[in-house]
Amino acid sequence: MDPVHNPYTPGAGTPPPELAGRDDLLRQVQITLERVRLGHPSKSVLMVGLRGVGKTVLLDRLRDDAEQAGMETLRIEAPEGRSLPAILAPELRRALLRLSRSEKAKELARRALSGLAGFAKALKVKYQDIAVGFDFEPEPGLADNGDLELDLQALLEASGRAAKAADTALVIFIDEIQYVAEEELAALITALHRTTQRQLPVVLVGAGLPQLRGRMGRAKSYAERLFDFPEVGPLSKGEAEIAITRPAQAEGVEFERDALNHILIATHGYPYFLQEWGKHSWDAASQSPITKRDVEIGSQTAIAALDESFFRVRFDRLTPTEKRYLRAMAELGSGPHRSGAIAEVLGREVSSLAPTRAQLISKGMIWSPSHGDTAFTVPLFDEYMKRIMPGQDWKSI
Ligand SMILES: Nc1ncnc2c1ncn2[C@@H]1O[C@H](COP(=O)(O)OP(=O)(O)OP(=O)(O)O)[C@@H](O)[C@H]1O
Ligand SMILES: [Mg+2]
Repeated sequence: MDPVHNPYTPGAGTPPPELAGRDDLLRQVQITLERVRLGHPSKSVLMVGLRGVGKTVLLDRLRDDAEQAGMETLRIEAPEGRSLPAILAPELRRALLRLSRSEKAKELARRALSGLAGFAKALKVKYQDIAVGFDFEPEPGLADNGDLELDLQALLEASGRAAKAADTALVIFIDEIQYVAEEELAALITALHRTTQRQLPVVLVGAGLPQLRGRMGRAKSYAERLFDFPEVGPLSKGEAEIAITRPAQAEGVEFERDALNHILIATHGYPYFLQEWGKHSWDAASQSPITKRDVEIGSQTAIAALDESFFRVRFDRLTPTEKRYLRAMAELGSGPHRSGAIAEVLGREVSSLAPTRAQLISKGMIWSPSHGDTAFTVPLFDEYMKRIMPGQDWKSI
């Protein structure tokens, strides 16, 4: 069928034609944000889920909604290898400059901007990647200790006071938050703790891989009490069906029941895969309704497309040792797997593999659902590993 009208949108952070199955979560977070704006105690939100389940899309949608509702927002993505102060400072500056345009909040926003200037200056020694334009002179003693934990508290408190004066909330959106270093995560948690205690309208909405929960607890033991961790998972059968059929219906196209079932089975309801299967089934079909045969043909190109992008970008970042570890996991199936079982496949001692496992966790490839268990963060990665490293030769690579 005409690819020009193909409605499906596989891609990192690309909004889907139908955001299926997330209404409850969206509503829940919207309530939180409204409560924060009114100064009611509320927990910050960290959405956790595997790769490709739609976390980034949710974060962006929530941000759009918050902006529509008149809240002050900033959004950052925590990349591997850059410091939190460095990525936060310029975005916070922009938010504070916007707040400073409000007559009621002008003075307090300017004070927070002075705080930001002191913050950046004092932390520059430690975090050399900080670069932020100074609009105001630092105020001596405000957020300029050079200690991230203390300074971030003071900075968010000053920012919260400005947001409060403007009758709004400052909503900080952070994607890929599992990449924030533990010490910086601890500082962020403490700072949010402070603004919550002061009943200031500052709230964090983050998204990350499932290891985030454990990381937060390790960074600050009381983190569990300050945050909600809603899980973003695969879509249920009914939701997945809606994700596929509604966009097609809007173009006057139907799916045969068999065709639909085939997609649901192949994708396991994972949003990224649904978009990929929808797209390729559409392209394979010559007319409506789309048949099972169309989906079968589409499956092959869908898998090839995933192999070339979604899976491939992750595979390419691995060292040979890491690849072998993941290949051994794949040998055992989709998981989770015991460390002992993986070591056995590799013919090694568990302890000698610990550094590789730790490295794979920090790269966001695997996580530990419970002590001693290891699972992939990328759905269906086991099948990919078997395709890309077939046979038995991989053990000697
Ligand atoms: N609720 C949904 N219904 C249908 N499709 C969705 C839904 N949510 C996301 N998608 C689609 O899934 C794909 C992945 O979304 P997104 O990039 O937000 O996932 P993610 O969880 O952030 O992945 P990653 O962990 O790799 O960053 C996109 O193509 C998006 O259009
Ligand atoms: Mg994402």
